[in-house]
Amino acid sequence: MSTILLHRWKERIEQVLSERLPAADTKPARLHEAIRYATLNGGKRVRGLLVYAAGHLLGGEDAWLDAPACAIEAIQCFSLIHDDLPALDNDDFRRGKPSCHKAFDEATAILAGDALQMFAFEQLSKGEHPPEQRLEMIRILAEASGSTGMIGGGAMELEMPKESVSLEGLEELHWLKCGKLIHASVLLGVYAATMPDENILSRLEAYAYGLGVAYQISNDLLDGLGDYNFLGKQPKSDQVVGRTTFFTTMDTAQAKQRMIGLFDNSVAALDGVERAEPLRQIVRQVKERSLSVF
Ligand code: IPE
Ligand code: MG
Repeated sequence: MSTILLHRWKERIEQVLSERLPAADTKPARLHEAIRYATLNGGKRVRGLLVYAAGHLLGGEDAWLDAPACAIEAIQCFSLIHDDLPALDNDDFRRGKPSCHKAFDEATAILAGDALQMFAFEQLSKGEHPPEQRLEMIRILAEASGSTGMIGGGAMELEMPKESVSLEGLEELHWLKCGKLIHASVLLGVYAATMPDENILSRLEAYAYGLGVAYQISNDLLDGLGDYNFLGKQPKSDQVVGRTTFFTTMDTAQAKQRMIGLFDNSVAALDGVERAEPLRQIVRQVKERSLSVF
């Protein structure tokens, strides 16, 4: 049942993104082509799925969740376009195709990322929710994406020392770089559905912490262990640019154990919660993919 829901929501995300993004021939056409190229490109859509699954938990209708799902996927795609640029990770491939700055050019890729950020907040601002719900969603996404969230995590990663990084230090980085946007995805789904109570918010924060940090540990391990076909990009790119990751600083078996523990904590945080099966299923699917390289 939840597998079918996830499949349906994934198709919905593709369709809604395609409909809401400006058409490729909208002026300036090269910019819009680049935006569509880097967004409608076979992503796993984990964050968009989290919006629908969290909204479902609180009885939200799919139509209420389209705007936040589009918004979170736009932020994710913006972050990847910029992350691949030569000044950051210098990755030539993404999702099995040339990265945006390779398929177009660096200036266009920078602008495509900039425009996707604006698109995200535009989506949240013009949904049909009451103004106070829209404002809360805008605040959640801005805080999770900005300098004390995902972008801050990117900056912290650049400053990370090569040696003597503690487990806590790496997990803090992973919470900022990946976890906060995962948390925001869940919160957007919740606030698009209703005004939630404290009990469900604290359980969802524990769920998001486990999934978000484990997902980034998985990203580190897959970068070290996966091949091009699996990753859709060159493997070992973190090592090439000298990043400090769970793969470079820890014994692989130890990192794998921590990752599994966090995935399991995430599922356990929703024990006994009704209508949470799609959220639990998302974790199981991400975990299964993460373990398939060992
Ligand atoms: C992606 O980080 C960008 C941000 C979340 C800021 P990574 O560099 O770790 O991810 P991949 O390996 O390029 O997808
Ligand atoms: Mg990268």
